[in-house]
Parts: sequence; C-alpha cells; structure tokens
Amino acid sequence: MGTHLSRTVAEGLAFMNLIDGKAIDALSGARIDVVCPSDGVVFASIPASGQADVDRAVQAARNAFDEGPWGRTPAVERGRCLTRLCQLVEKHGTELAALESRDTGKPVRQGRADVVATMRYYEFYGGAADKIHGDTIPFLDGYTALTLREPHGVVAGIIPWNYPLQILARVVGAALAMGNTLVVKPAEDASLTTIRIAELALEAGVPPGVFNVTTGYGREAGAMLSAHPGVDYVTFTGSVGTGTAIQQAAAVHNRGVTMELGGKSPQIVFADADIEAALPVLVNAIIQNGGQTCSAGSRVLIERPIYEEVATGLAERFARLAAGPHDADLDLGALLNARQRDRVAAMVAEAERAGIRVLARGSIDKAAPAGGFYFAPALFGAVDPGAAIAQQEVFGPVLTLFPFEDEQDAIRLANGTDYGLVCGVWTKDGARQHRVAKRVRSGQVFINGYGAGGGIELPFGGFKRSGHGREKGLEALYDMSATKTIVFNHG
Ligand code: NAI
Ligand code: MG
Repeated sequence: MGTHLSRTVAEGLAFMNLIDGKAIDALSGARIDVVCPSDGVVFASIPASGQADVDRAVQAARNAFDEGPWGRTPAVERGRCLTRLCQLVEKHGTELAALESRDTGKPVRQGRADVVATMRYYEFYGGAADKIHGDTIPFLDGYTALTLREPHGVVAGIIPWNYPLQILARVVGAALAMGNTLVVKPAEDASLTTIRIAELALEAGVPPGVFNVTTGYGREAGAMLSAHPGVDYVTFTGSVGTGTAIQQAAAVHNRGVTMELGGKSPQIVFADADIEAALPVLVNAIIQNGGQTCSAGSRVLIERPIYEEVATGLAERFARLAAGPHDADLDLGALLNARQRDRVAAMVAEAERAGIRVLARGSIDKAAPAGGFYFAPALFGAVDPGAAIAQQEVFGPVLTLFPFEDEQDAIRLANGTDYGLVCGVWTKDGARQHRVAKRVRSGQVFINGYGAGGGIELPFGGFKRSGHGREKGLEALYDMSATKTIVFNHG
C-alpha cells in the first residue's frame, strides 16, 4: 500500500499521521519513541503532533463532512465500508495482533482476542448502519411530524492504550455507521494499530478525510483536539482527571461528549454460589490484560460463611500466576510503561504500609528481560472498604477481598465507591439475582459470569464517576447521532 511507503525499517519504523488520506509527518518533525513494554527497547516512532497538525486533521474531517462524498453516501454503503474493513482486519489479523502485543506488552493470545473483537465491531456496525431510523409522531390535525437520526459532524476520538484496537473499533464503527467524520488521537504509548486501521479503512473504501489520525502527547495533541472549535462531538475513554479536562474544553464550545472513565467493579459471591465455576472467572477478570482494563473486576465481595474457602482458592491461583514477555504468552504481560508500573507498585506499597494482608503474590518469569515493566500480581484480604486500595482504580493485577454479612451489606459495599461500571453476581437464587441486579448502580451486571471486554452488542458505560453516554451495541449509534424533528403543515 502506497500510504505507508514512508515507513521503512531503515528509518526505524517511522509511523506517520494519516490526514486526508495521506501519510504525513508532524509539521515540526518532532517524534515520540515507541517502546516495547516487554523489554523497554525502542522499536519505532510516531509523530508528536502540534497545533498545525491537529488543525489540518480537523480541517480535513470538516471538509469531508461538509463537502465530501461521505454526507451523500447511503447508510447501506457506509455499512459496506465497515464490513470490508472487518474483512481487511481478518486478512491482516496476524500482523495487527503482533503489533498490538509488541506496542502494549499484552500476551499474544490477548492480541489475537482483541483482533477477533475488533472484527466483530466492524461486522456489527457494518450491518447496523442501515437499520437505525427515526419515527413518525402523531401530532396536530393537518400536520405530519417525523424524526431523522443525523450525524453530529466531526467527531474527535481520544483513545486509551489498554485496548487500542478494540476501543478504536467501537468509536470508528459507531461514528462512521452514522455518517460522522473522525479525527482520532490515540494514546502516545499505543498508536501503531490505530495508524494501520486508518490505512485499512482507506483500502476498504472510506473516502480520504473521513477518518484521520494525529498521534502525539495527551497534554499537547489531545488537549488541542479536545479544545478545537472545528470539532462537533468528543468521545473519550481513560482516566477521570483527563475526562474532566476534556469536558471542560467541550463546555467552552457547548458540545456533547461520551465519557468512559473506568471503574472499581465488584463481583458479589453469595454462599450458595458455584465456587468452582466462579474462581477462574474471578481471577481472569482482574488478570486479563494485567488488570489494565476499565471493566476489571477488582473487588470480590464474599459472604462470610464461604469467605475462607474462596480466599484460599483465589490465593492458590494467584500464587501460580506468572508475568512475562508478550511472546511467552503467560498469564499476563508487562504493564504499559514504567509510570504505570510504578503507580501500581506505589498503591500496593501503601496498602502494605496500612497493614492490609497480602494473601498471595504471583511471580515474574525468570526469562523476562530486566528492562521490561513487570509487576507480580497481588491478592489482598480482608480489606477495609475505606482503604485507598478499596476505593481507587489501580489498573494493575491487584485484587481485593471483602467479607459481607447479608444481601443488604453486599449491595452497600458494591455501591460503596465513586464508580459504577460493571458488577458480577454469583448466586443460584433467582429472586436474589433480580433484586441485586436492580439495586447495584452499574452500567452492566453479569449474573454467574463476568464479561470483561466481551459482548460487542451489549450497551456499555458508566453510572456515577464511571462516566456517561453508552458505547457498544445499537445504543452507541444514538450517542453518535442527534435527532432532527421535521414538521409538515399540509392542512
Ligand atoms: P489518560 O486518561 O491521561 O489517557 C487516555 C488518553 O487521553 C490518551 O490518549 C492520552 O494521550 C489522552 N490525554 C491525556 N491528557 C489529555 C488532555 N489533557 N486532553 C486530551 N487528551 C488527553 O490516562 P493515563 O495517564 O494514560 O493513565 C492513568 C490512569 O487512567 C490509569 O492508571 C487508569 O486508572 C486510567 N485509565 C483508564 C482507562 C479506561 O479504560 N477506562 C484507560 C487508560 C487509563
Ligand atoms: Mg507502546
């Protein structure tokens, strides 16, 4: 493909922005090193975009929306572009999975799982594009009233580093299905697959200028994009603090936002639960992607009579967990970078200082390169619900256990943080399943299972500080569009 001819091994894999269908460097020429978390070695670079680059990308998206062919492309044809993108992701799946693992440190099987989910997003939104429609509304005599679902215009997508392929896909799939154009700012530590997907989107027939990528630092390119007057809507996944900054910038221009801001998600295990079925799910919900998952199940609430049994079962499993290089494909990889690793380590050290018992630690594989950003999984219990480790999102392989006395107590604990993203409930009592599902303040509830990452068709998003707006499923298509009401007075 011509668009990435600029990228050669001789140049040290110099990736480019993609603006108006062209691979293009930042005007300043400034670049950011791309480091592999598994060994800490630089293997590529990306542009450090500045104001001129962001301006150019927003202008390209603006032109493509206001004047380009995209606005007149029928919904079915927009859907076909996404379906072709799904097929291209499949064709390049091995390359994309390897690139994602190398860029983020995630085990290769997680990279492959991310590719499968990514295909599913483009398949789902490809099929959904022509199935969203408005209403006709009974109104006064002599009138006909109807609604259309219209795109916002230029959508800015600010993407985090934990699941770049998947989170990009949920943004791109929904935004393009509804006829928006896009400027995406991927995370500075995980931009490579975003650039590749934008190239593949061109190949799939998405017109130049519809899907632009400007890489760079959050406080520079990210802040410039979120403050840009040419943007109509912003979608963001990441930390609460950055989400607040992006909403403040959006308020200046009175534009809408979707915010997905992480969680401190509980799984509630009642005494009648199938413990053998629950244990591997409880472990996976915090260990998948090294715990760097917005929907990670980071708190396990256990009914008192089975507390010791569940804690012992989890401790046995935690002691066997091993972190290693992405291509060794162990239980978890390195964390994203030194800053994330140190942040997790500091939170664990603080919990230990506070006297919270460590029930088990996993290990770091002996063959893991010394320069990698590894952290051995840690299991804490019983934890005081007011402790920092019980309240703050750790975003690492750290699980906290809490005993509870009865259903009321379980619900109080489950709702006892600022967050409300996902909740798991383990019980065979059907009436209790319904009661608890209704009383927890959480965007998703799983009964006798836990769906971290899965379920492209399931609406996803937060209550409370976990954010607002919904992604995934058909609901995302409503977030990515606005209702226009048209009234005919025909007498
Ligand atoms: P972050 O929220 O700062 O970064 C996410 C994205 O926002 C990146 O693309 C970044 O470049 C961009 N960004 C940063 N500052 C910005 C600004 N002022 N304006 C516009 N865009 C900006 O998160 P960070 O610092 O990488 O991670 C810190 C913590 O955030 C993690 O430990 C975790 O707790 C949480 N987080 C949650 C995620 C989730 O899936 N909900 C994903 C990533 C981080
Ligand atoms: Mg990286």
